[in-house]
Amino acid sequence: MTLLLRKIKEIRNYLRNIRCQNNSIVGFVPTMGYLHQGHIELIRRSKMQNDLTIVSIYVNPLQFGAGEDFERYPRDLERDLSICEEEGVDIVFAPLDEEMYPEKPLINIEIQGLSNILEGEFRPSHFSGVCTVVLKLFNIILPDRAYFGEKDYQQLKIVERLVKDLNIPLEIIPVPTVRDEDGLALSSRNTYLKPEERESALSLYRSFLLAEKLIKSGDRDAKLIKEAIREFIMKHPHIKKIDYVEVTDPDLRPVEEVKEGDRILLAVWVGNTRLIDNWRIGDANL
Ligand code: PAJ
Repeated sequence: MTLLLRKIKEIRNYLRNIRCQNNSIVGFVPTMGYLHQGHIELIRRSKMQNDLTIVSIYVNPLQFGAGEDFERYPRDLERDLSICEEEGVDIVFAPLDEEMYPEKPLINIEIQGLSNILEGEFRPSHFSGVCTVVLKLFNIILPDRAYFGEKDYQQLKIVERLVKDLNIPLEIIPVPTVRDEDGLALSSRNTYLKPEERESALSLYRSFLLAEKLIKSGDRDAKLIKEAIREFIMKHPHIKKIDYVEVTDPDLRPVEEVKEGDRILLAVWVGNTRLIDNWRIGDANL
């Protein structure tokens, strides 16, 4: 049975008792809910590696900017709970806003050189909001391991650095991106897409394959690759604009010459839906 807890005090007491009794190793999967196969992959990894798996479901207002999709972000706790039940999750922590933020936090967390690039350039306070909620959740749950998807590659790198810089006593476990059969990266935001928009959204994944082909044929100039990606994506209907296309090394430093292991990262508006995706160069089976 999955236990649903909504109060910080409740989950702290519950975990304190369990730890006293049998020293359980705790795996933690932070989410904003509307769970899909990507989240489920994180849950399964945690189930494999730990005695106890805890999933948090909380749409964190602090990481949404003015005019973003906080209000319309999909929510369905009933459905999420039955998925967690099916996957054998031990505890779902689903706090209310007044529990997480009894007053507006005054803290501002910046990971210099990582928070303000790429996503951070277009969503200025986003990563401070992410770091604040993640750190609060870590302090509430005190997990041994926490699972983060490569789908949000910049978020993963920022959380890894947060943990390193502050000596937070846990291990961050990265999990590769789960895609639909046709290549679209799974995201709770895909529910916003109309069928014809979803078709155009496939251009993100296909642009990675195009880039791989160019690289394989000897094109190593990052500028040229980025231009080819932009041109390919913009050819599709319903693509409103591209916020960024970047090629970086694994630590998010821009590169001029592309090599295996580098990352392509992009953010694209398909109609009114903003999608992000990224790709590790060398991962395509061409
Ligand atoms: P959310 O978008 O719900 O994602 C929760 C976790 O699932 C993140 O680590 C994300 O990278 C991972 N994930 C999402 N889609 C995935 C996919 N297709 N394949 C693999 N992993 C995937 O990311 C957040 O929530 C929030 O920012 C959060 C960390 C919970 C803080 O509020």
